Parts: sequence; C-alpha cells; structure tokens
Amino acid sequence: MKILLLGSGGREHALAWKIAQSTKVKKLYIAPGNAGTAEVGENVSIKADDFDEIKNFVLCNQIDMVVVGPEDPLVKGIYDYFQNDAELKNIPVIGPSKQGAVLEGSKDFAKAFMLRHGIPTAAYQTFNGDTLQQGKEFLRTLKAPYVLKADGLCAGKGVLILPTLEEAEKELEEMLGGMFGNASSRVVIEEFMSGIECSVFVLTDGKDYAILPEAKDYKRIGEGDTGLNTGGMGSVSPVPFADEAWMKKVEDRIIRPTVEGLAQEGIDYKGFIFFGLINVDGEPKVIEYNVRMGDPETESVMLRLKTDIVDLFQAVAQQNLGACKVEFDPRSAVCVMLVSGGYPGAYDKGFPITGIDQVEGSVVFHAGTAMKDGQVVTSGGRVIAVSSYGETKEEALAKSFQEAQKIQFEKKYFRSDIGKDL
Ligand code: AMP
Ligand code: GLY
Repeated sequence: MKILLLGSGGREHALAWKIAQSTKVKKLYIAPGNAGTAEVGENVSIKADDFDEIKNFVLCNQIDMVVVGPEDPLVKGIYDYFQNDAELKNIPVIGPSKQGAVLEGSKDFAKAFMLRHGIPTAAYQTFNGDTLQQGKEFLRTLKAPYVLKADGLCAGKGVLILPTLEEAEKELEEMLGGMFGNASSRVVIEEFMSGIECSVFVLTDGKDYAILPEAKDYKRIGEGDTGLNTGGMGSVSPVPFADEAWMKKVEDRIIRPTVEGLAQEGIDYKGFIFFGLINVDGEPKVIEYNVRMGDPETESVMLRLKTDIVDLFQAVAQQNLGACKVEFDPRSAVCVMLVSGGYPGAYDKGFPITGIDQVEGSVVFHAGTAMKDGQVVTSGGRVIAVSSYGETKEEALAKSFQEAQKIQFEKKYFRSDIGKDL
C-alpha cells in the first residue's frame, strides 16, 4: 500500500514509525512532516489542510489510504471532501466526518452528546453574549474553582480554571466579549472535577471499536504540575489506576455508549476517538473528546501497540474491526519531551540539535524540528520526544532521562518528574 499521513508533530512521527513497520506498506508519505518523519518515509511539502493539493498528490501518486494526525483537517472536513469527490471517494480516510469532528470542535456539542447518551461528565450549562447575566447566576450556584471553556477550537488554550467567583465572572465576560474570537462566542461553564486524568484511545469503524493502550500526559510546564499549560511534556503508559475493573467501567459507561451514540445519530465516524478522562473517587468521567490521537500520548502508546496498525486501519475502512484482536506490549512505555527554553511563552528557534545519533535503546520522535543546511535544528516549542520501554515505568523513565542528556540544543528544558505521581 501507499499511505499518506497528514501532520508534522511528534504524534505524526510516532504514527509514521509504527505505520512504516507494517509489511503492507510499500511507500509512506508524510505531509508536511518534520526532520524525523523524513527518516521513516518521504516528506511532501503540502499543508495538512490544503485539500486541493492533497487531492492532486493522492491522485498523481496512487495513494491507497490517508491517515489524518491533527484535528484541524478533520474539523475542516477532509473526510467529506474525499467522500464527495468522484475520483477520491474510494480512497479511505482514517478520521471522522466533519460532523463527527464536532465532538472536538464544539465543547457544547460534546457535552450535549454526553447528556443525550448518559455518559458521565461534569454538570454544565452553555452561555452566549445574550445570556451573560444567566451565566453569572449559574456561576453563583457552583463551588470554586470555576471551569470556563470556549466552545470552539483554541489550540489548547480555551479552558480557564479560576479560583474565585470574581475572576470567573470577569473572565466569562471577556470570553463572551471575544477573548478567543469566534471560538468563545459561546462558553461552557462546568462543575470542577477533582482527580487524576487518563487518556483512553480507541479506533472505531462506526460499528465496533478496538481499545488501544491508555496513557497519562503531563500538561503543565513546571515540575509538580505547576505553571502554564503546554501541548504536553511527557506521557506514561500503562496508567496504574486504569486496571481491568476501571477499564471495564470506561468501556461500559463511556466507550460503548459513545460509539453507539454516534451510530444512532447517523454520524459517520471511522477513526480515532480520544477520551480525556478523569478518575473521580474511582469513577471515570469524561473531561473532553478529541477526534485524533493525543500528543505526547502517541509517543508512548505506539511503543505498546503490538498489532500491525495498518491492519487496524484497513479493518476500519472495511468496517470489520470487530474481527480484529489488538495486542499490547506488556512493558511500560514513557516519553519525555524536550522543549525550547521559554515555551509555552516566547522562545527562539533554529538552534542546532546534536547527539540524536548517540541515543541507544530509546526511540527519538521529532516534534518541532526542521532540516537546515543538512543540520537538524529546533523549529517549535516541543522539540523532541525521548520514548523508552522498561519492565517498570521507573525503568523506562530512567532510560529516557539518561538518553535525554545526550541530546543537546541551546536552552533545552524538560520536566524531570514525569510519571512520579503515579
Ligand atoms: P480540556 O481542553 O477540556 O481537556 O481542558 C483542559 C484541561 O483543563 C483538562 O485536561 C483538565 O486538566 C482541566 N479541566 C477541564 N475541565 C475540567 C473539569 N470539569 N474539572 C477539572 N479540571 C478540568
Ligand atoms: N495530550 C493532549 C492532547 O493531545 O490534546
């Protein structure tokens, strides 16, 4: 098969690494990719949301399948673009329809969907510019801290958690006033849930689902989960509290009702579902849905997926996922993200990266890297994920921290407490 993978981050390098291991794959292209994906496939310089260019490339190169990494092309409707084009409609796209992608694209839609299908999540209400006053009244019925979410996509910045009612009222007013542009023209206010988070991933063909290894990610920049939110500073799989009994609750109360709910509502969905869960006193609840894999979770999850991922993708496309068995590697896998100093605030780019070739026994996934005059340089906030196996998570983490020392670039930073809370 010839496969085109869309995206350019650490998640896409990890997916590309796994796809390239499949015996079914004759050629893997990544658009636009990064310096790491170029080692496992061929990068093509097309933006992941330039549908017309993607069409040209797919037809000229006889691509058999398109796998979508990030949410952006999905929310913009790449699946539907293929379905509605006579020349493309028989080429499977792994990712949901535009309607399915609304699970991630609108927090209000996701909450209402959960309510309709009895899926456990925080109590909530949604407000707009006309109902600001009601929003403030709703806030007064809740206990601190207060959770405000912009309805639309905000590159991970649309959720505010505020310690006092005064701040919550002020931020609500600002959000509805256009703080995140159109994305915050509606704001979801919800009950705060206290617990440890866990990311659960499935692939669905619209009828059946295959559960992939779960992972925990570390979102804050600082040790001990302090400071600003980032795209993710590391991940650990498996998650100790996500044992068989807990995962059964997740499957019965969350995964199955979600997949059945999508089918019942006639929403075409053939792709990944990422359940952002929180463990509240032993009970799993949904914080959010995403319609793609997590980053940096993928950089540990792919290490633990033993099954050929292209077999799974084909089963998704042919709607016979029910016949597939997914095998996990019983070892632990972790990833430690090396980031640019200053991130998630302002940071410099273009620093040469050295020592990647010295790494032994860990897998290096590139996130924000580029090639410049034959040299790998930094090109983003999150630069490189160092992923490792271990018999225990401690062993895997020790390996990643040891190998992370070998990779050098100016102002490199990483969190040395990944996995310590589990
Ligand atoms: P989201 O974009 O919805 O995943 O929210 C970003 C982060 O905010 C989550 O990963 C949680 O850490 C936190 N968060 C969101 N909603 C809640 C909630 N209802 N209770 C507690 N924390 C939350
Ligand atoms: N790691 C969280 C995300 O990918 O949204």
